[in-house]
Amino acid sequence: MAESPANEGLTRVAFPNAKVNLGLQVRNRRKDGYHNIEGLFLPVPWQDTLELEVLEAGNTHEINSLGLAIPGAPEDNLIIKAAFLLQKEVDLPPMRFHLIKSIPMGAGLGGGSANGAFALKLINEHFNLGLDHVELEAYAARLGSDCPFFIQNVCAHVSGRGERVRPMPLQIEGWWIALLNPGIHIRTADAFNGITPNDDRPGLGDWKGTGPTDWTGALQNDFTKPVAEQHPAIQEALDRLTQHGATFADMSGSGSTVFGFFQDAPPPELMSNCPAHWRTWQGQFT
Ligand code: C5P
Repeated sequence: MAESPANEGLTRVAFPNAKVNLGLQVRNRRKDGYHNIEGLFLPVPWQDTLELEVLEAGNTHEINSLGLAIPGAPEDNLIIKAAFLLQKEVDLPPMRFHLIKSIPMGAGLGGGSANGAFALKLINEHFNLGLDHVELEAYAARLGSDCPFFIQNVCAHVSGRGERVRPMPLQIEGWWIALLNPGIHIRTADAFNGITPNDDRPGLGDWKGTGPTDWTGALQNDFTKPVAEQHPAIQEALDRLTQHGATFADMSGSGSTVFGFFQDAPPPELMSNCPAHWRTWQGQFT
């Protein structure tokens, strides 16, 4: 059985973060029912907290959560799925995961995917499994389409179903980002069904070294128009970002979170007079 000699009796903590998509193209539908996409993915430090605790033999993997309520059965949680996935390959002891959930779910921020990917990384580190990022990305792809990105967790051009991750540095140092989540839960599969794929246009592979001023009017998310048309609060949140001076604003993933880039700290009114049930976050890239 894999042991953790350097960490006997200790737990290990990670901080799974959100992502936003700067441009997202649905290019074509695949035979397996998924879609080939192209997107620029950017990690954003809106974080959950995830702790791994090793249990005595005879127990089974489990999850305790605090913070935002997580829908669904524990065995459907990507953290538990990550533990069982690696367990098939290596003899691992049972584990208990403690999750403090802060990243809104069904929100286009990849929060559940980050949890799964970070669980793989935590287990790999804690038990010195020696898996490199290529191997971890392959496991992550089996958990969910957005999971591989969170293994390297750097700005990247992502393609295929989400499993092809190519790091792509962007010029965002010093920029502020504000996120507004209008509390609408979007099902990714439904959002994909509302899109007509288009493979006849330039991809997003050439945006290395660019920043928010380059993206305005050039990068687009295919989901924004159809999803915002269905949910007026999303359009309202986008308008709020531009009215308060965002240089570049869009929806992330299949929604419902929208984000804006600001050269200086966003004005306090951007968030202070949002509807009370909206969740908001802001930070500066260093
Ligand atoms: O991979 P994941 O479980 O996150 O995908 C959720 C759903 O979103 C899939 O069942 C599929 O309907 C859709 N999807 C897709 N193409 C992708 C990613 C997701 O059609 N590249």
